[in-house]
Amino acid sequence: MEHIAPALLAWFYQNKRVLPFRTDPSPYHVWLSEIMLQQTRVSAAMPYYERFLAQLPTIADLAACPEEKLHKLWEGLGYYSRVRNLQKAARIVCEQYGGELPADYEALRGLPGIGDYTAGAIASISFGIPVPAVDGNVLRVFARLYNDDGNITDPAVKRKFTQWVVQHQPPDTPGDYNEALMELGALVCLPNGTPLCAQCPLAHLCGAHAAGTALTLPVKTKPKPRRVEQVAVALVKSPQGWLLQRRGETGLLAGLWQPVLWPETVFETADAMQQALAELGVQTAAPFALRGGSAAQPLPAAKHIFSHVEWQMAGWRFDAPAQPAPAGCVWADEQQLQAEYALPGAFKVYKKLMLNKE
Ligand code: ADE
Repeated sequence: MEHIAPALLAWFYQNKRVLPFRTDPSPYHVWLSEIMLQQTRVSAAMPYYERFLAQLPTIADLAACPEEKLHKLWEGLGYYSRVRNLQKAARIVCEQYGGELPADYEALRGLPGIGDYTAGAIASISFGIPVPAVDGNVLRVFARLYNDDGNITDPAVKRKFTQWVVQHQPPDTPGDYNEALMELGALVCLPNGTPLCAQCPLAHLCGAHAAGTALTLPVKTKPKPRRVEQVAVALVKSPQGWLLQRRGETGLLAGLWQPVLWPETVFETADAMQQALAELGVQTAAPFALRGGSAAQPLPAAKHIFSHVEWQMAGWRFDAPAQPAPAGCVWADEQQLQAEYALPGAFKVYKKLMLNKE
C-alpha cells in the first residue's frame, strides 16, 4: 500500500484539536495525559489534567504527594489504580532517573502502569523515538484501512496491525504520526457504526471504504456480561457530620472513602439496616413508629457501572447522636467532604445528598 503518512499528517496539522497536553508535550505531560485518556474521554479528562498539573507540576511533586490528596485529584475519574501506579512510577523515576522520565522505550515500559501503548506514546511524542503507540483508535483505523476482519482482541492480530503501523511511520515525525492516527480514530474513523468517510484523508486508500465494510470493522470479542451486585448503603448524619468508611487497601476502589455500605446485601427494612449499624457500633436515633415505618428516610436507588461489575445501590438515611466513629470510619463535615475525603463517582448521587445539593 502507498504510504499513508503524507495525507494523514497534512490532515492532522490542519484539523488537530487544541488540547492542553499538546501545548507543552513534555514527557511528564504526555505520560499524565495518556494515562488519564486510557479510560476517559478527552472532554472529561482535561479539567482533571489541568488541576492535577497545577497542584503537582513536576514528577518530584507527584512522588511526594500524600495519598489522600492524590485520590482527591483523581476523584470521579475512575480506575484509581492508574493514579497509584503513576505515583509508584514517579518515585522510581526520582530514585533511578533523577526525576526525569528516561528517553528509552524499554525503560519506560518497565515502569508501573506503563504498557506498550503508553511507552510508545511518550517515547515517540516527547522524545521523537520511532516506535508505535497502538490503542483502540489505531487498531480500528488499520482494521478498516486493510479491510482486515481479524479479531483485534487476539494478540497475534494486534501484532500484525502493529507491524503495519510501523511500516507507515515516518522516521522524522514518529510522534505526530502516532498522534495523527489516534486523532483520526477519535474524530473521523469513528466506532459504533458512524465513520465520517467523506472527511477522511485516507478514504482513497481505504480497503473497507472500497468494499463497503467499514461499519463491520474492527472485529472484536464481546466482553462478558457484567455481574450485578446489590449494595446496601447507609447515610448517617450526626452533629459531627456524615459517617464515612475507608475501603480496604486492595481491590476495587482501594483506599477510597464511602458511606457505610454492605456489599452483596439487601436489607428488607430500615430496622434491619439500623440493626446492622448497631452491630458496627453506630447508634442511630430510634426509629419512631410511623404507620409501621421508621424515621429513617429511604435513599434514591442508584447504579454504577464498573468494568466487570454493576452495583445496584439502595438504602436509608439515619440521624444519629454525636459519638466516636467506629474503627476505619470518620465523621466528615461538609467542608471535609468537599476538600479532604475522596468519594468515588459511584456515590455521586449520595454525595450530592450529603452536600445538600439535591
Ligand atoms: N487519545 C489518547 N491519547 C490521545 C492523543 N494523544 N491524541 C488524541 N487522542 C488521544
